[in-house]
Amino acid sequence: MFLFLLFACGSPPNDPPKPAATPPKAEQVESLGFDADLERALAFYATRPEMEQPHGKGFEVPSGVPDLSAESCGICHGEIYEEWKLSTHAHAWIDPQLQEEMKKSANRWLCENCHTPLLVQQANWTVGLSEGDVEAPQLVPNEKFDAKLQEEGITCASCHVRDGVIEGPGLPDSVAAHPVKADARFQSEAICLRCHQAVAEYPGKSFVCTFNTGKEWSEGPYADEQSCLDCHMPTVERPVALGGPVRKVRSHYWRGAGIPKVAGVHPPPSANPPGLGLDASWTPAELSLTMTNANAGHMLPTGDPERWVQIDVRFETEAGEAVGEPIHYRIGQTWEWYPAPKKLNDNRLAPKEARTETLAIPEGAARAVIEASSHRISKETAEYHHLDAYPRSLLIHRITVSAEGVDAEDLPKQ
Ligand code: HEC
Ligand code: HEC
Ligand code: HEC
Ligand code: HEC
Ligand code: HEC
Repeated sequence: MFLFLLFACGSPPNDPPKPAATPPKAEQVESLGFDADLERALAFYATRPEMEQPHGKGFEVPSGVPDLSAESCGICHGEIYEEWKLSTHAHAWIDPQLQEEMKKSANRWLCENCHTPLLVQQANWTVGLSEGDVEAPQLVPNEKFDAKLQEEGITCASCHVRDGVIEGPGLPDSVAAHPVKADARFQSEAICLRCHQAVAEYPGKSFVCTFNTGKEWSEGPYADEQSCLDCHMPTVERPVALGGPVRKVRSHYWRGAGIPKVAGVHPPPSANPPGLGLDASWTPAELSLTMTNANAGHMLPTGDPERWVQIDVRFETEAGEAVGEPIHYRIGQTWEWYPAPKKLNDNRLAPKEARTETLAIPEGAARAVIEASSHRISKETAEYHHLDAYPRSLLIHRITVSAEGVDAEDLPKQ
């Protein structure tokens, strides 16, 4: 059997997977009853770094709300619910890649604390580690486990519900039907960073955690201009809840590169433009191609190290026949996973960075067709995980360049 540990908080192979030693195992320990187990779990998590801790409990349902499901919040917050349903956050648990990766190691309790961050969303809790090994957790079952809420991944309650109270940005003159508490974290990147800024090494393990989006942003030119919310939750004017006043509030799509988790289910392209800007010019002998991180407030691509942006250039004769060799650029990271995870190369575009490449135009070429696409996962890695139907990439630009200038095509909207 192969063991290849793909912490996307770490991630898949750029080099082919290799067999490893027998994986350590999770151990089910005796339950001492709900309250005692909860206490043991909280005591254990308190000894761990913040990124390995759950974000809240979620056992108390706020008054005025039927239950914690997104659908129930949607009774009154219909538009927010419809947006969230299309988001990647709503797919954070059912993500087929996550599900496949979690079969490969008993480290899945780490994944759960970000992908299903409330204790109520987790079937088991960790109360200790055998010999301190993160791949050998001691688990107790959660009697009040809510399987529906687990399916919802990063759901409304994951961000908004703490100890029976709904936390939010603090709407002035709120007409809320439930208890609310204003929390300043909702008005800045703070709410995002707990999951999107997490870098950790696990010595002796073939996984790492490499989410550095927060730092890429705070050290870049957007830090004083636009926050995560400004780009990923752009403002809208509408009633927050059925029958409430119109307010200037925020959409809940969080569109990233736009590659869906489930074919056909994704936020509209208008929710966030592609990060890459593409331009080109044609002189008699040379094609000059400029790739810019035009819209992303962090590295392009960011997050999962398996992602990349690809630019494919092909030359054609006047009659449309291929001429010369096609050229491919890959913008992303390359990692080696054995014997230990190591970054080999990183040619991503920093925020606002522009990079120009000059290509010789082959004899007889009348134009170049340039396509850019975003990729979540390589074909090989998808096959390794048996992810046949998993959408892997998205075409973002197609331009034709000739002596006449640049012609950008309107691509089918996804
Ligand atoms: C990833 C965390 C996250 C999730 C998941 C989430 N929200 Fe929010 N929500 C926020 C943030 C951040 C704001 C504050 C925006 C601002 O500063 O105005 C917010 C604001 C709100 C507001 C106040 C009005 C507004 O739109 O700004 C309501 C109501 C709300 N969310 C309801 C929901 C509902 C219902 C769901 C599930 C369908 C949900 N949220 C899911 C983070 C989240
Ligand atoms: C019975 C209707 C109803 C249900 C169900 C409901 N809400 Fe609300 N909620 C409201 C109303 C009304 C407001 C206030 C709107 C206003 O003042 O414009 C509100 C306000 C909010 C706010 C803003 C709080 C603030 O002031 O910062 C958040 C966040 C929120 N709700 C989240 C949720 C979540 C999450 C759920 C599901 C667990 C939920 N709501 C279920 C009616 C509801
Ligand atoms: C509880 C952890 C958590 C919080 C809090 C959180 N995220 Fe995420 N976010 C995730 C995970 C996990 C994914 C990826 C899910 C997957 O791909 O299966 C994700 C995905 C995304 C994506 C990528 C969408 C895509 O299609 O690739 C964007 C953009 C994003 N989050 C923005 C935000 C912003 C902005 C905030 C703050 C308002 C935020 N997130 C808060 C965990 C979180
Ligand atoms: C200036 C606007 C801007 C800001 C600020 C910004 N982003 Fe983004 N973000 C984008 C764009 C545009 C993309 C799409 C990139 C692409 O085409 O691959 C993106 C992509 C992402 C992705 C998805 C990566 C992928 O490949 O799909 C995540 C996750 C993300 N952003 C999180 C964040 C977080 C967290 C913050 C704050 C620390 C933030 N972003 C700040 C514009 C922004
Ligand atoms: C510290 C929080 C955190 C932990 C722990 C975590 N993840 Fe994630 N995961 C994220 C975030 C944030 C994203 C979104 C990254 C992005 O889009 O930039 C994500 C995305 C993913 C994706 C989608 C990758 C893609 O390219 O679309 C998979 C699969 C995944 N995680 C698997 C796992 C597995 C398996 C584990 C446990 C071994 C795990 N994650 C642990 C936060 C976490």
